[in-house]
Amino acid sequence: QQQAEQLSHLEHQREQSEWRKAEELRRREECVRELKLELDKERNKEPVVKYVTQTVEIESPSTLLQLSEARQQNEQLSEKLRNQRERCRHLEENVRHSDEVSCNLQHKVFKLYPFQNSSIACLYVKFPALQKRLSALPSTLRTIKTDYASLRSQVRNFSDFYGTAIKEAKKQVKANKDLIEKYRKEVALRRKYHEQLVELKGNIRVLCRVKPVLKEDQHEEGQTVVVTTDPNNESALTVLSKGKAKNFELDKVFHPQATQEEVSRVKPLITSCIDGYHVCIFAYGQTGSGKTYTMEGSVENPGINQRALKHLFNEIEERKDMWTYTVSVSSVEIYNEVLRDLLSKDGEKLDIKINPDGTGQLHVPGLRVMEVKSFQHIKKILAIARKNRITFGTQMNQHSSRSHALLTVTVLGTDLASGAKTTGKLNLVDLAGSERVWKSGAEGERLKEAQNINRSLLALGDVIQALKAHQTHIPFRNSRLTYLLQDSLGKGNKTAMVVQVSSLESNVGETLCSLKFAQRVCKVELGPAARKIETGGHNESPHSSPE
Ligand SMILES: Nc1ncnc2c1ncn2[C@@H]1O[C@H](COP(=O)(O)OP(=O)(O)O)[C@@H](O)[C@H]1O
Ligand SMILES: [Mg+2]
Repeated sequence: QQQAEQLSHLEHQREQSEWRKAEELRRREECVRELKLELDKERNKEPVVKYVTQTVEIESPSTLLQLSEARQQNEQLSEKLRNQRERCRHLEENVRHSDEVSCNLQHKVFKLYPFQNSSIACLYVKFPALQKRLSALPSTLRTIKTDYASLRSQVRNFSDFYGTAIKEAKKQVKANKDLIEKYRKEVALRRKYHEQLVELKGNIRVLCRVKPVLKEDQHEEGQTVVVTTDPNNESALTVLSKGKAKNFELDKVFHPQATQEEVSRVKPLITSCIDGYHVCIFAYGQTGSGKTYTMEGSVENPGINQRALKHLFNEIEERKDMWTYTVSVSSVEIYNEVLRDLLSKDGEKLDIKINPDGTGQLHVPGLRVMEVKSFQHIKKILAIARKNRITFGTQMNQHSSRSHALLTVTVLGTDLASGAKTTGKLNLVDLAGSERVWKSGAEGERLKEAQNINRSLLALGDVIQALKAHQTHIPFRNSRLTYLLQDSLGKGNKTAMVVQVSSLESNVGETLCSLKFAQRVCKVELGPAARKIETGGHNESPHSSPE
C-alpha cells in the first residue's frame, strides 16, 4: 500500500511538472506571437514614409519646409523603427532564453523519469503477486464460511445430543440411586447375618485399616494410591496390582480418613473381658503401616488400648452396685525371642513357665503385675510402658519395628449377690513388622533378629493355620509370642486382628501379603466364645457370647 501511495505521489508530481512545462511553453509562444503581431503592425506603417518622399520633388519654401519637416518626421520614424527593431531583438533574446529554460525543464523531467520508472517497475513486479493473493482470498473466505456453517450446525446438533444425554443420565442416576440404596440394604443385611455367623462359629474378626498418605511418605517413589475402599460396602477392599484389581472381603474396612474413635469401636468386644471372656486383639502389618498408631496412638490422639481401657473402667463404674472388679495389668516386649518387662525400669529378661500351682496355667516369674484402680492410673502405667519401649529401642537400631509389644489386662469380677467369680483377660498386641526377610537384605545379627521376628510371626501363622484346620494340636509353644497368647488365642476366645496396610504402590507387595494372611485368619473358627465363670466351684459350660 505504501508503495502504491508512493507511486501515485510520483505520478502526480510528474503530471504537475509536465503541466507546468506545457503552460510555460504555451505562455512563451503566446508572447512570441504577440511580439510578431506587433512587429508586423510596425512594418505595415512604411507607406507613410513613401508618401513624404514624393512631396519633396516640389522645390518651394513651403515644400522645403515640408520636406525638412518630413525629414524630421522621417528621422523620428527611423528612430522609432530602430527602437522597434531593438525591442524585437530584445524579444527574440527573451524567446531564446525561454527556449533554454524550457529545454532545461524538459531535461529535468527526463532525469526524474527513470527514478519514477524504477519505483513503478518494482511495484509492477509486486502487483501480480498481490493480485494473486487477493484473488485467492474470496475462495479462502468461502471455505471459512462453509466451515463456520458446518461448525454451527454441529454445535446445534451437539447441544440437542447433549440435552438428550443429560436426560438419559439423570434417569440413570435415579435408577442408580435406587440400586445403590437396595445394594446398601442388602450389604447391611448380609453383614448382620455374617456377624451372627461369626458369633456362632467364633471366627476371628478381621479388621483392616488403610493408612492415609502422609507428607513424609510423599518423597518416595511409587506414590500412586492402589488401595481403594468402597463407600457402599464397608467390608470390601480393592488393591490394584500389575494392572489387575484384586478384591478382598473382610469383616470391616476402615478407610484412610477413619478416626481413632471409629477404629476403637471394637470396644464392646474388648470390654467383654469384664464378663469373663478372654479377648485378644493384635495389630498386624508391615513396618510403618500404623500398627503402633492404631494400638497406642499418640498422647493427644490415643488408640485402641487407651480408649478400650477407658470404656472398661466406665463399665465397671456402671456395674459397681452388682459387681466388684479387680483390674491388673502387665506389659512385656518380645525382642529376638527375649521377653522383657516393660513396667520395670531395668527391663529384666523374663522366662515363661507353667504355673507350679498345678492348674496348667502359664506363669512368668518376676513379671510385674500392677493392680489399677482408675483409668488415670492405667494411663500412667501405659505411659511408663511406652517410655520403656522407647528407651530399650534407642539401644538398638529399628528396635521398635522388630519387637512385639503386649499389654495384658486381667479383670477378676465378683457378683455381689451370688458370689460367682469371673476371670476375664485382654491381650492387646502390637506386632513387629511383617515384612519379609529377603526384602530388608538382612545379614548376620540382623538376619538372626529378622528370623526371630519372623519365627514369632511364622509361629503365629502356624497357630492360625492349625486353628483354621481344627487340628487337635495347636503349636503354641513354637514361639514366645504364641506361648503368651495361648490362653487368648485358642478355642472359646474372642479374637480380632487389625491388619494395617499402606495404600501406596511402592508397598503393594507387602499389602497383598498382609491381606492374604488376613483372609486366612478370617476363616479361623474358635468356636462359640466361652465365659470363664466359677459358680459354686466349677466352670460354666461354654456358650455363645451375649454380645
Ligand atoms: N491413621 C493414621 N493417621 C495419621 N498418622 C498415621 C496413621 N497411621 C500411622 N500414622 C503415622 O505413620 C507413622 C508410622 O506408624 P506406626 O504406627 O509407627 O507404624 P508401625 O507401628 O506399623 O511401624 C507414624 O508417624 C504414625 O504417627
Ligand atoms: Mg510400631
